[in-house]
Amino acid sequence: TRLAAVVGRPVRHSLSPLIHNAWLAAAGIDGAYLALSPSEEGFPHLVEGLRGSSLAGINVTLPFKEAALAAADVASTRAQLAGAANLLLFAEDGSVQADNTDGQGLLGAFASQASGFDPAAAPVVILGAGGAARGAAAAFVLAGAPKVRLVNRTKGRAEAIAHALGEAVSAHAWSELPGLLDDAGALVNATSLGLEGQAPLEIELDPLPASAPVMDMVYRPLTTRLLEDAAGAGHPVVDGLEMLILQAAPSFEAFFGQAPPAGVDVRALALAAL
Ligand code: ATR
Repeated sequence: TRLAAVVGRPVRHSLSPLIHNAWLAAAGIDGAYLALSPSEEGFPHLVEGLRGSSLAGINVTLPFKEAALAAADVASTRAQLAGAANLLLFAEDGSVQADNTDGQGLLGAFASQASGFDPAAAPVVILGAGGAARGAAAAFVLAGAPKVRLVNRTKGRAEAIAHALGEAVSAHAWSELPGLLDDAGALVNATSLGLEGQAPLEIELDPLPASAPVMDMVYRPLTTRLLEDAAGAGHPVVDGLEMLILQAAPSFEAFFGQAPPAGVDVRALALAAL
């Protein structure tokens, strides 16, 4: 039996076990995907304990993605640029390898829900400067975006990310937003605004070209105020659930040695569980 797990705190609302176990069942693989929730201090010890174990690897979610990168022996370029890992693999030689498939999930979601979108065609505006925003910025830099504009309430956090990622990334205050949107090719919300129980994200979308997709990494609720407003204004909309599913696919392949089987509607399963 091949095993993998998601590690987060809290972890009980994670949709990853549902997604991976549905793929395992449909593919007829002798495997299982579990959920683990160590204490904050316990995470590095958990990783040490799993080194060389029979667990193929783990997906890592909040708040452990940065700690996961730190705990690994080697890390892919994309994990280093993101400053975080959502995937750790436990190799037979005892090494721990960090990777990050969130960027594939993000760009994959654009490809699937905003057909024809080219990340290299125009500047991208990302709202936020936490771990999610850094991951999104890294993904767009790697995809060849000519400019990635990070807009954050605390401008210093955006500046720190711009410093880490290089010249393609710039840092801005909220007040600059209208002028940043008017030649943008996409807008991404990577703040926690719009999340259930938080204030909705309301911004003036008028300056954004109508052809530019609007993406929200928040998927609880699936249709945020931002996506509602964007759809109303004629923008293609891209949601965080699609990103979640598409970051899971390469993880599944890394754990179980084959791509997820076709013909399982994991999006419908996840929607029913949201
Ligand atoms: P994560 O690592 O999941 O991205 P985070 O580091 O807590 O989470 O980042 C949350 C993001 O949402 C930050 O960009 C935060 O802005 P600050 O850096 O200024 O704190 C943003 N955010 C949260 N609440 C906000 C609010 N009420 N108004 C504006 N931005 C907010």
